[in-house]
Amino acid sequence: MLNHKHKKMRKNIVAGNWKMNATFQEAEELIADIVESLEKNTPGCEVIVCPPAVYLELASDYANDYENVLSIGAQNVSEYEKGAYTGEIAASMLASMSMEYCIVGHSERRKYFGETNQQLALKVERLLENAIHPIFCCGEQLEEREAGNHFKVVETQIKEALFHFSNDEFSNLLIAYEPVWAIGTGKTATTDQAQEMHAYIRTLIAEKFGKETAEDTTILYGGSCNAANAKELFANKDVDGGLIGGASLKANDFVAIANSF
Ligand code: PGA
Repeated sequence: MLNHKHKKMRKNIVAGNWKMNATFQEAEELIADIVESLEKNTPGCEVIVCPPAVYLELASDYANDYENVLSIGAQNVSEYEKGAYTGEIAASMLASMSMEYCIVGHSERRKYFGETNQQLALKVERLLENAIHPIFCCGEQLEEREAGNHFKVVETQIKEALFHFSNDEFSNLLIAYEPVWAIGTGKTATTDQAQEMHAYIRTLIAEKFGKETAEDTTILYGGSCNAANAKELFANKDVDGGLIGGASLKANDFVAIANSF
């Protein structure tokens, strides 16, 4: 099933998740501003922008013109290959537009669209077949953390959706730990909370796929990450960067985050 020619090695990444925001004109302005700002302040990390699907072509055109400053990702993909699934977007379509990344299993998709770990496993499979790197999101709700179940919740999300893949397949994935209580709330996880969970995720991966794969996996933090707290979060040994929502809609903030390593 695996279609990748090269393995994804661990790297520092800042990815912007625009969610369902921006008109076409606003999207064009934002992507232009981001590219311009990245050219002036080249960060020491890979920068990914994940706009709504209708703007992927626009974003790809910009990325192609500035090949080394920006990668583009989608926010979602269908679990089906192709055919009569009105409104859905296939991984093969994203691949035909040279998409490199795709977010999978964002907590908003789990919450509002009822996505299950089983469906997410299929989405990841479709992406791997099409040589697109999934950015797999996991994270606990506030009540789960308060009940002390946060490690178990994240473990189940990862195991159910990802642990049937081969080592080679898994090596193409990125993980984003996004505690649900920190998303869009202004309430960031402390650096200790982030590091602790990232280290735990890496241990889980090591147990299943071996230490080398675990050390090579990029694990991003997401949830109210902004220009003021990014440096502290990214300084943690197991935090390889961020998945940024709100702050990715302002070019200067987003590029400042990318420059926080
Ligand atoms: P936020 O969103 O940065 O606005 O909290 C992060 C995300 O949902 O990916």
